Amino acid sequence: MKFKFIDQQTFGDDYTVVYVLGGPGAGKGTQCANLVKDFGFVHLSAGDLLREERQREGSQYGDLINNYIKEGKIVPAKITIALLENAMAKSPSKRFLIDGFPRKMDQAKKFERTVCKGKFVLFFDCPESVMLERLLKRGKTSGRVDDNIESIKKRFVTFKETSYPVVEYFEKQNKVKKVSCVNSPQKVYAETKAIFKDLFDAEEKAKKAASAVKN
Ligand code: C5P
Ligand code: MG
Repeated sequence: MKFKFIDQQTFGDDYTVVYVLGGPGAGKGTQCANLVKDFGFVHLSAGDLLREERQREGSQYGDLINNYIKEGKIVPAKITIALLENAMAKSPSKRFLIDGFPRKMDQAKKFERTVCKGKFVLFFDCPESVMLERLLKRGKTSGRVDDNIESIKKRFVTFKETSYPVVEYFEKQNKVKKVSCVNSPQKVYAETKAIFKDLFDAEEKAKKAASAVKN
């Protein structure tokens, strides 16, 4: 039996967690796939994990998750955090892109307190008109219960009222890297890649300098 102290993170400083935020349809998933290839991250999408759990036979949360997703509301923090923590524990990696999370202040605070501290937030900034167009197009083939105009409108409201404050919270800590998403996926990725390269090159240099001092 593994006991856990309440205010202690499961994963320590040797873990790199980057939160990937942005409204629905901003292109988070697409850009994460690129980052996985170039920077060796494991991509964990909170929405995908919730959809998997909804489908899992014997899940006690299937109906609840489905209702929250259809309504564009945020699923209770403890469910999403447990799914993310399990996925991190199962993975051999220590570098994670956590896509679509945290989407509410209680998720942010609980995850940072009990699972792992995020290094920074990659925020994809996108006007609603662009997101709407993308989601309606995606809805033709995605089979998602929430890619329809009624659900999309609700998701936009949730994003503004509930999720954007999380971006502002991390902005106050100087932890947000913002990328505009109106351009083509290739252009958006070029900008994203440059940010990651700068950050991780700087980290690599600092590590080398620290080990040079030691030796
Ligand atoms: O990120 P994605 O668009 O796949 O999320 C789909 C839905 O999953 C959200 O609209 C919300 O209902 C739920 N979700 C959540 N908490 C998260 C991520 C997603 O409740 N952190
Ligand atoms: Mg997604």
